[in-house]
Amino acid sequence: MDVLKFSSLALSGLKAILIPSSPPVLATIILTDQCNLSCRHCAVANQANTFATYSETLDLMKKLKEEGTKILFFCGGEVFLWQDGGRTIHDLVRLAKKMGFVLVCVVTNGTIAVDIPEADSVFLSIDGSARTHDLIRGETFFTIMENLQGVSTDNVVFYMAVNKLNYHEISEVTQLASKLKPVKAISFNFHTPYSGTEELSLNKEQKEQSMTTIKKLIKSGYPVFNLPVGLDRYLQGNWGRPCRQCVVYEAGQEFVCGRCSEIPDLCEECGYLFAVEFSLLLKAKPRAVWQMLRVYLKYS
Ligand SMILES: C[S@@+](CC[C@H](N)C(=O)[O-])C[C@H]1O[C@@H](n2cnc3c(N)ncnc32)[C@H](O)[C@@H]1O
Ligand code: SF4
Ligand code: SF4
Repeated sequence: MDVLKFSSLALSGLKAILIPSSPPVLATIILTDQCNLSCRHCAVANQANTFATYSETLDLMKKLKEEGTKILFFCGGEVFLWQDGGRTIHDLVRLAKKMGFVLVCVVTNGTIAVDIPEADSVFLSIDGSARTHDLIRGETFFTIMENLQGVSTDNVVFYMAVNKLNYHEISEVTQLASKLKPVKAISFNFHTPYSGTEELSLNKEQKEQSMTTIKKLIKSGYPVFNLPVGLDRYLQGNWGRPCRQCVVYEAGQEFVCGRCSEIPDLCEECGYLFAVEFSLLLKAKPRAVWQMLRVYLKYS
């Protein structure tokens, strides 16, 4: 990230800390809940057949820009399934950049394509070695690796949802990320036990083991796009949630923090590390601010 973009983000962060009612810095637009996969850990795909039209999305982007949102994520379902009147995810990302969002990111399962050179970061879900990833996500690992070969920039971030089936493969996936040219980093989340997926949650020892592994990888210089202080607080469980500086839009509805905010008691078990990290930043925790400066400058 260049210094200008970073200053703009830092200024918004400062505003959010000083003025608690300031609008969210980070927004996610769910373009559709339609997905070509049915992963074992996921409870949000193909639920209500939601679909945002181009003009609805454009209006929402304008509103967010006016309100001061800096970081914009496009997510699904699967974003590569979204199209409206010939417009695709590429058009939306280009438009968002043109409108002046500081960071424009996309989350994808990578089975249709991965290459979005217009995006600052493409978060690509990889949930283990080929065997484990396929166990969780269906037979897709090698298709994704093929699609990665066609990526023209180094804007890909592996996105691993750590659970009972794959926590012992954190190092393996990190090493793979560090070897592939288009991949600039890896980012972890931990399993959030939506109804029907509870058996994938890690117990305390497994969480501790995972954290130790991730911290060792960070110390060894691997490109991990998470804040160590967030990992500690996630383990301790004492972080403020839901995070009021993140907002999600799906089918005309607005959710503070995540779509999950309306599910009773789920926040207590939340494994989404962005929520932990942003909540610490809002409390102006010096370690979190310092680590964010370093990590975001390096990998955003
Ligand atoms: C819902 S998916 C949508 C984007 C795209 N289809 C994909 O798989 O990357 C966004 C991210 O949420 C993660 N995810 C799904 N269910 C989860 C759960 N129960 N706990 C934590 N992360 C989860 C996925 O692994 C993925 O990285
Ligand atoms: S690819 Fe993404 S949205 Fe689709 S089922 Fe898997 S985690 Fe859910
Ligand atoms: S804290 Fe936020 S991301 Fe986590 S479960 Fe609650 S609403 Fe979802």
